[in-house]
Amino acid sequence: MNFDEQDLGLGSWTRRKFMQMGAASAASLGVMNLAHAEPATTRRTMMDVPFEKRNPRVAMIGTGGRGTSLLGNLLSADAQVVALCDIVKAKAEHAASLVVKAGQKTPELYTDGPHHYEALLARNDVDLVLVATPWSWHAEMSIAAMKHGKDVAMEVPGVTSLEDCWRIVRTSEETRKQCLMLENCCYGYNETLVLRMIQGGEFGELLYGEGAYIHDLREELFSNAGEGLWRRTEHTLRDGNLYPSHGLGPVANYMGIQRGDSFGHIVSMSSPQRGLDKYRKDHLKPDDPRWKERYLTGDMNTSLIKTAKGLTITVKHAVSTPHPYDRINLIAGTKGLFQDYPPRIYFDGMNKNEEWGSLDAWKQYDHPLWKTEGEIAKKVGGHGGMDFIMLYRLLECVRKGLPPDMDVYDAAAWSAIAPLSVTSVSRGSAPVEFPDFTNGKWRKRAISAIATQA
Ligand SMILES: NC(=O)c1ccc[n+]([C@@H]2O[C@H](COP(=O)([O-])OP(=O)(O)OC[C@H]3O[C@@H](n4cnc5c(N)ncnc54)[C@H](O)[C@@H]3O)[C@@H](O)[C@H]2O)c1
Repeated sequence: MNFDEQDLGLGSWTRRKFMQMGAASAASLGVMNLAHAEPATTRRTMMDVPFEKRNPRVAMIGTGGRGTSLLGNLLSADAQVVALCDIVKAKAEHAASLVVKAGQKTPELYTDGPHHYEALLARNDVDLVLVATPWSWHAEMSIAAMKHGKDVAMEVPGVTSLEDCWRIVRTSEETRKQCLMLENCCYGYNETLVLRMIQGGEFGELLYGEGAYIHDLREELFSNAGEGLWRRTEHTLRDGNLYPSHGLGPVANYMGIQRGDSFGHIVSMSSPQRGLDKYRKDHLKPDDPRWKERYLTGDMNTSLIKTAKGLTITVKHAVSTPHPYDRINLIAGTKGLFQDYPPRIYFDGMNKNEEWGSLDAWKQYDHPLWKTEGEIAKKVGGHGGMDFIMLYRLLECVRKGLPPDMDVYDAAAWSAIAPLSVTSVSRGSAPVEFPDFTNGKWRKRAISAIATQA
């Protein structure tokens, strides 16, 4: 099949057919095309553009739970940390104490209100900024960082609207600065090993995958600290898959999304919302102000993506009902499949009784990063070591002047699931087309550097 010729975003549809039909008649068949948002101006891609080679001076905006944990990993990877920002002074001061404990100079603190990060970004001794604030701040902070000449790495789920997906892409292309999402799950031990097995041809031709963020966050969402101060609000704003990238990022890498294939269209549906209502009833006093809130996000959102090559991906989001933690992390091909939680593998002819096999038998595919840095990663911690591996590799890419493994196009495409799923849910699960943030360049791009490191 010639993918240059065929569908670029509608799965079994072709974009050519779509164009021939005209948007009006395509819309009458129920496929919403939001690609009109693509800017008409000439674009210079950031695909495969390397970091400026240097030992980066790092600043962090947001030193709450995640920021502090990332900071510990950064310091273990010998990053120089020069400035920290948080609206809560005590949090910034605690983070600064970790930097000093690691033998570095006291970093400059920016704690005077929600826009003090702008003063941090105006410094000329910062090269790389990490953003670990509530979701609603990611776009503004990341865009401002690039406009101030800094590379930026923002926490998941990236940005929350389609417009902001385009804004980060355009700003990165215009400023020539990197903007990436810190999707740590792409660096997990199992994820990197399976990615290399796929490259080794063990799964045959890939067919479908599944990812999820199933994590009972009810207690955290109603906490009076940390994410409880802002994340529950997200559940009052929209219904869809609010946090897709932990499950989706690794599957996108397995399938070579933005690297020979791309997301085509999405359909999404949500179950009723009952979990947060029940938790509130069981735990809150009658005069609690949170009784005024109205939760919109369904307890289980299931979204289905069809890729340009016709593969399918299921992405689930469930954070408000009882369930053991699960990212599913499934990939299937013509020869067999892998599924996580717990990790298990099944290949055609592997055994007589249709029993799952162990991933332990495939250690020859251990990722080089885990071979060399696995011990320290496990010691430092952070989701079993994947956080350290991610940051070690990010620093390595900057120090060696390499392109980032995950770039602004990945950040935009993975962020886009949330707003597109919301659109689909609100329209009775109508199919919605993904914009092509790469301007067609995904077709000729090599597979992820995470897979190919020697
Ligand atoms: N990748 C992962 O595994 C992972 C895990 C946890 C959280 N996260 C993500 O990390 C981000 C932060 O989450 P968290 O758990 O640390 O939340 P948190 O509430 O613990 O921390 C957020 C911090 O940002 C600060 N902040 C808010 N507005 C600010 C502003 N305008 N300027 C400066 N600081 C500001 C808050 O005071 C707080 O300290 C979120 O995007 C979350 O989804 C990712």
